[in-house]
Amino acid sequence: MRTPERNPRTAKGPAAAKRPATPANARAPREIKGLSDDIDDDDDDFGDDGEGERDSLTDVPGGARLQKVMAEAGIGSRRYCEELIGEGRVEVDGEIVRRFGARVDPEYQVIRVDGRRIPAKAGLAYLAFNKPPKVLTAMSDPRGRKTVADFLGDRSQRLFHIGRLDYDTEGLMLLTNDGELAHRLAHPSFEVAKTYLADVAGQVPRDLGRRLMAGVELDDGVATADGFRVIDRSGQRALVEITLHEGRKHVVRRMLAAAGNPVTRLVRTDVGPIKLGNLKPGTSRSLSTREIGELYAAVGL
Ligand code: URA
Repeated sequence: MRTPERNPRTAKGPAAAKRPATPANARAPREIKGLSDDIDDDDDDFGDDGEGERDSLTDVPGGARLQKVMAEAGIGSRRYCEELIGEGRVEVDGEIVRRFGARVDPEYQVIRVDGRRIPAKAGLAYLAFNKPPKVLTAMSDPRGRKTVADFLGDRSQRLFHIGRLDYDTEGLMLLTNDGELAHRLAHPSFEVAKTYLADVAGQVPRDLGRRLMAGVELDDGVATADGFRVIDRSGQRALVEITLHEGRKHVVRRMLAAAGNPVTRLVRTDVGPIKLGNLKPGTSRSLSTREIGELYAAVGL
């Protein structure tokens, strides 16, 4: 297996505004817990407004306690969230808040833990779906073909897919009802990288990666790969991995065909920081709080 080639012209990382990973005055970094399986039922008034240091954040009248919002977003128990607050690791609208009782409005305020935004708004859903081949990227089809909605049950009514995969392409598709995130992820200006595994026909020449990364002329303009590697070769076929942040229709198939190695099977394995992993075809999973934070960061939210 060859080490991946990286395109120095396009390897510039996410368009995200870089945020400090950890506030300077925080304790040694610790992992944020994943999901909210240990949220306790403490009374909303647990913790006192007077505790901790003051800050200039204005309490939102009728707002929810910060630690409660954090716990509901999947950070961990309220006690754990209070520890994070006490350690100065929580920001509301850009300001570090060390009070346990701060009242916030998760609909409008941006809350970050260790610099990473948390999905605080109620009712938002984020799914990773492994699209099988011969499934249309749509929520319905007048011609009666199978669509993504057929695999999502009731959830399909409130979710929309981010970007598209061809009818025959398999792999990772993200779905959400978070309009702003979806808009940014689908927009080429945010340059979220996507990685594909492609079975290709023909012998792969040694310079294929270099040519793809230099840019391949297509009928709607040049398309450029960010990364490329050959994973396996056998006779007249090969398995290759290609990374690019292009969103044009059939772009991977067209690039490889133009380079002389047409695709016989295509699977998307990564969208920005999210990985397909071992999700079975036709199944979906909820993204973790950490993954959602990474997606926000990838598009500068
Ligand atoms: N490129 C393609 O050719 N097909 C897809 O589905 C996605 C990217």
